[in-house]
Formats: sequence, structure tokens, C-alpha cells
Amino acid sequence: MKDLKKRILVVDDEDSVRRLLQELLKKEGYQVKTAENGLEALELVDKFHFELIIIDIRMPVMDGLELFRILREKDPEIIVIIMTAYTGVDTAVEAMKMGAYNYISKPFNISEIKLNVRRALEIKNLVEEVKDLRQEIKVRYSLNNIIGNSGKMQEVYKLIGRVADSNATVLIQGESGTGKELVARALHYNSSRQKAPLVTVNCAALPEGLLESELFGHEKGAFTGAFEKKKGKFEHANKGTIFLDEISEISPNLQVKLLRVIQEKEFERVGGLETIKVDVRIIAATNRNLEEMIHEGSFRDDLYYRLNVVSIIIPPLRERKEDIPFLVEYFLNKYNQENGKEFKYVSSEALQLLDAYEWPGNVRELENAIERAVVMGNGEILLPEHLPLNIQATSLEEDKLKVHYEDKPLREILREVEKKVLKKALEQNQWNKARTAVKLQISRSALLYKIEEYGLESDFKD
Ligand SMILES: Nc1ncnc2c1ncn2[C@@H]1O[C@H](COP(=O)(O)OP(=O)(O)OP(=O)(O)O)[C@@H](O)[C@H]1O
Ligand SMILES: [Mg+2]
Repeated sequence: MKDLKKRILVVDDEDSVRRLLQELLKKEGYQVKTAENGLEALELVDKFHFELIIIDIRMPVMDGLELFRILREKDPEIIVIIMTAYTGVDTAVEAMKMGAYNYISKPFNISEIKLNVRRALEIKNLVEEVKDLRQEIKVRYSLNNIIGNSGKMQEVYKLIGRVADSNATVLIQGESGTGKELVARALHYNSSRQKAPLVTVNCAALPEGLLESELFGHEKGAFTGAFEKKKGKFEHANKGTIFLDEISEISPNLQVKLLRVIQEKEFERVGGLETIKVDVRIIAATNRNLEEMIHEGSFRDDLYYRLNVVSIIIPPLRERKEDIPFLVEYFLNKYNQENGKEFKYVSSEALQLLDAYEWPGNVRELENAIERAVVMGNGEILLPEHLPLNIQATSLEEDKLKVHYEDKPLREILREVEKKVLKKALEQNQWNKARTAVKLQISRSALLYKIEEYGLESDFKD
């Protein structure tokens, strides 16, 4: 069975203090080990894991602060309480500066010790929780959470893998809802900057002036309402990544400033004179065609080239419909869990509709449709009636009539259309050729000829 008792190490050269603390803390329900000098302490730390270490400052062989320094190098998150017989403020301050949780002056009183130990262990718990949370965030945004195995998405994954751990600026392009933000996160959390922050700025959300101070910060009094000095997102993202979403929306003036940050890695706060240097990796995203915007004169081409060092283009969902069943399964699971539902299958009619629909809102629209179905519906099978009306109304017939006319001579396109129209007319007339000919106002022999020519036959032969 796992021992749930918290482990505490007491390091003091005075035998009486060691024994007193050991007894006291054992009574409180902790597991306690003791060491009489720094070297002994280090040996124990190599063998056991301690949640908390209490260290006396004045010891022979190695003083307490020195021991603390070594321990912290081994484990930067270690929690330490320092004991000192002198009310010498200097050492105490030194210990606190080094990151000790607290210091206790000797002779100490019992309740003070108990309280400090309990608080320190609570802090330790918090630290662990935060660590778990970080790990979870990392997992949540790793590549595994981008669903889809179509050839086109595999190209995207390969590119992410290749450029994630570089400092190259990346421009992510794709229609709304294709997963640009997911890709940005995957890039950050697969880079060596993963422990530093990923800071997201939505460039479309703020008017120019506010966006500028949001990005670069401002000095106190820089403009009306700037009561305090404020750091900008670039400073917050130092050592990490900044994700500039909807980059197409930034004003010409800010485009110039951004260009400078990319080139020189430096800027000034609004209203400030001091030049600030940062180490930030830049990822930008847009659902607009920046090249067109350059053409119109609304986006600087030099900025575009700086941003577009690596370009990741996420294809719209309608161009990778083979991903749909996997996405549906993923979202079904997700929303089953969130809503305590148990949808297990998608009926073939519903799947046909999901497949025929063109998904102008891409994966986001699909996710919303599945969430809605799970929330509103019940049972194990997702049926067409659970889907939004516009998707239910997708005409499977119409899809049959859709013509793909890219790069083809007109003659061929017309033949394709004719073939589809004939097939549909025949189906509507249950393959009665005489009736179909009348409907289409052509002769029966002309119809027979075309059926032969296009190789048309009923899907439902007896
Ligand atoms: N391949 C995918 N696998 C799983 N979920 C996805 C995928 N692509 C997108 N999503 C989900 O769809 C939603 C929209 O994705 P995201 O916000 O990344 O899109 P976007 O491209 O940034 O869109 P916009 O341009 O509108 O901001 C999110 O909830 C995201 O989790
Ligand atoms: Mg987005």
C-alpha cells in the first residue's frame, strides 16, 4: 500500500532539537527523518523523497544556506523552512530571497512550528497541482488532439513536426474553423519553449490604439486612462511564443511596428523611451487571403514575407471529407462525457448527410452540430432528425448533380452535366424510358443512344 504520510527531513546539529522536532511532527502524523549535518542530509535526499525540509542555519561541515543552495539546484521546487538561533535579520532575509518558504527563530514555540509546517505542505500541494495542470495542458494541445488522418492533414502534421522546435515565424492559413488555433498550440507545446507562456492576441478584437498598448504595453500617463505602467503581451511572452490571431486586421501603423519587432526583437512601450528586448517566437494566423490584401494595398508585403517564413495551410473540411467519421466519433465521445449521454453510433442516413454537406464553417460547425445533437437527443444512435435543419436539408440528389469543372474543356463539362441529368431523370421515372424521354422532350431512340453512350444503368437492377 502506498504510504500517504508526508515525509519531512529535519537537519540540525543539535541532538535535542532533532529529537524534539521528530517527536512533535510524528504526533502530527508526518513521517520524519533527521540528519545532523548537510552531508548526511544530502545522502538521505538521494534515497528518499521529502515534501518538506527544515534546516538549521548554523551547522558545522556545511552551513544551512549552503545546503539549501545545493538542494534547490537538485529540485527547484523544493520547500524549505530555515531555523536560526539569531534574530540576525541578514541571514533570514538571505534565506527568504533564496526562496525559503519561511524562517523560524530559535527558541521556537510549538504552535508556530506546527502552523508553518502545515502551511508549507499546503503550498507544496499547490505546486504539484499546478505541475499536473501544466502537464495536462501540454497533453491537451499536443498533436493527438488534432483529429483527422486524411493525406492533406498528414502533410500538416509533418510540417508541424518539422518546424515546431525551431524559432521560425509561422503563418497559419485556413478558413474559419479549420483548427488554426489548435495548430498554433501544437507548435508551441512541441517546442523547447513549451514551459514558457503561449500568449494569444486576437488582433481583430481591439481598436488600433488599444491593440498597440496590448501588444507593446504602455508607460504611466501615455494616454488618457493610462493610470499605471503596463507590460504588453510581447513582454509577457518573453522566452515563449506569441500567437497573433487574425493578423490581417492590424492597421498599417501597427504593421510597421510589428515588422520592427520581428526584425530587431525590440520595441518601446507606448509613451516610453526605453527600448525593450524580447526573445519571442511569433506565430500568426489568418483566414483571409493576405496576397490579395497586398494587391489591394491593405497589407504590407515586407511584413507578409517576414511572417510567412514557414506557411502552414489547413485545408477546408470539404476537401478532406474522409476525416468526417473520425471527427464525429471524437466529438460524440467528448460531448457524451460532458453531458452524461451515451450515443454510440451514427445512423447511415445521418452519416450520408454529414458527408454530403459542404461545411462552410468547417470543423467548428461540425463540432457544434454534434454537440447540439448530443445535448438535444437521447439514445444510442444519432439520427438525421438530431442534426441542424440546414444539414438535414442537404440534398443528396443535388450532390449527385454537382459538376466539377476545373480545368476541363467545355465539351466535357457539358457531357458530364448531361450524364447526370439523364441519370436523375431516369431515377425519377423508375427507369421507364418512354416516360423519361417525354419528360426530357427528346425521342426515345435518342435517349436509348445516350444511355448506351454514357453507360448508364440502374443502381437497383433486379
Ligand atoms: N482537426 C481537428 N480535430 C479536432 N478538433 C478540431 C480540429 N479542427 C478544429 N477543431 C475544433 O474546432 C474548433 C475551431 O477550431 P479553431 O478555433 O482552431 O479554428 P480557427 O481556424 O482558429 O477558426 P477561426 O478562423 O474562426 O478563428 C475548436 O473547438 C477546435 O477544437
Ligand atoms: Mg481562431
